[in-house]
Parts: sequence; structure tokens; C-alpha cells
Amino acid sequence: MESTVTEIASDVYRISTFAPDFGIQFNQFLVKDDEPFLMHTGMKGMFALTRDAVASVIEPAQMRWIGFSHFESDECGALNEWLALAPNATAICSFVGAMVSVNDFAIRPPRGLADDETLPLGRKRLRFLATPHVPHCWDAGLIFEETHRTLFCSDLFFQPGQPPPSNNSDLVAPAREAIIAGQSGPLAKDMPYTPYTDATFARLAKLEPQTLAVMHGSSFSGNGKRALHDLGQVIREILGPH
Ligand SMILES: [Fe+2]
Ligand SMILES: [Fe+2]
Repeated sequence: MESTVTEIASDVYRISTFAPDFGIQFNQFLVKDDEPFLMHTGMKGMFALTRDAVASVIEPAQMRWIGFSHFESDECGALNEWLALAPNATAICSFVGAMVSVNDFAIRPPRGLADDETLPLGRKRLRFLATPHVPHCWDAGLIFEETHRTLFCSDLFFQPGQPPPSNNSDLVAPAREAIIAGQSGPLAKDMPYTPYTDATFARLAKLEPQTLAVMHGSSFSGNGKRALHDLGQVIREILGPH
């Protein structure tokens, strides 16, 4: 396996590794700033690949913040390897994530963020959004880089295979196809439709992101408000009450 690095927004780098065993990409995102930020670590087995890809942009030991949506191996499996490598790095996750998993799992205490809490990186600023069960898991949250309006989407807009770094025409159609195909696969029922789903998508759309940084598949630049609204509708249509 090897990783490719693509700048998808100003100082936002997509580090993409295709895993043939899974048939999907695992994408990490590096934000280069005074306090560098890594969105998801990837699995422990991918640590060296991600580290070497980060090294093409910044010195990996300078990493300051490591964020992720929810406690799963592709989100934070290599967290402890990163904490060991970067002495000033601190994990950021939801308050629930810290209490339920990360306080115990991580070799250093994480910073559990409250809903809507902001974190300055230097020129850019992150905003944490608690999004329970979107894309999945109680502890789920999403992170919005509000200076250049990049939403780190975690598993939202999942597309299998090896699509290009960016798809600026339509991300919703392939995501819809993937949700439908996933319903009959061994990993079905990954995304629940809950009493919070519609309100969460409405809130995400209101952020009006210019870039959607997607963990599995292409990222997107364009009308993020429309894309999030439409994905919310698709999820309601496929998974909501009938
Ligand atoms: Fe996930
Ligand atoms: Fe994922």
C-alpha cells in the first residue's frame, strides 16, 4: 500500500491510502498551521504510511492536535503511535468519546470538546460539532475548519473503490448508490436514522462548507450546503420511517 497527498483546500492535505482487502480508501486530513492538526489517524497498521505522507508537508513530531469523529480503528487506531511520536500532540474528540473510550485507551489524556467549542490553530480555527449517531456511534462528532470552510465529514458521503481526490460535480449520487449497496452487504446497518438525524443534517448544511473532506472516497469543493441537504434527504428516504 502507498499513500498519495493532495492539497484539497488552502493548507488542507488529503492523505489517501487504498486498502485492497477492504476495497476502499482510508483518507486522513492534515491541516498545516501554527498548531498542525490531523483529522483521523487511520488504523494502527497504516501508521508508518500516514506518518511518511505527513512528513512530505510538515515534520510529523510537530503535530499538535489529533481529531476524529468516533471511536473506531480507522478514526483513531494509530492514536497512541501519534501521541508517542509527537510530544505536544493532544487528542480531541467529543466529551462522550473522552469519557466512554479515549480517557482509558489513550496514553495521554484527550481534550473532550463541548458542542460548538472552538479551537484556534493559528490562521485557521476549528469548531467542534457534537453529532450523536451521525454518521454513527453515540460519541460521534464532526469538525469544521471555519476559516476556509472545510467540513471534515468522517464517514458521510462514503464511496467505495478508488475514486479521484476530488469530485466537484456530484458527490450525493455515488454516496446514495453506496448506501443502497451497503444495505445488502456484511457491514449493513452502519448508519442509523434517529430522532436527531434530520436536525443534524440541517445544522451541517447551515455551515455552508466550501469543501467536504471525505474519509472514504472523493472530497468535494462547491456548494456544500446543497450536498449536505441532499444527503440528509437521501438518508431519510432510504433509512427513515416508511
Ligand atoms: Fe465509522
Ligand atoms: Fe470510516
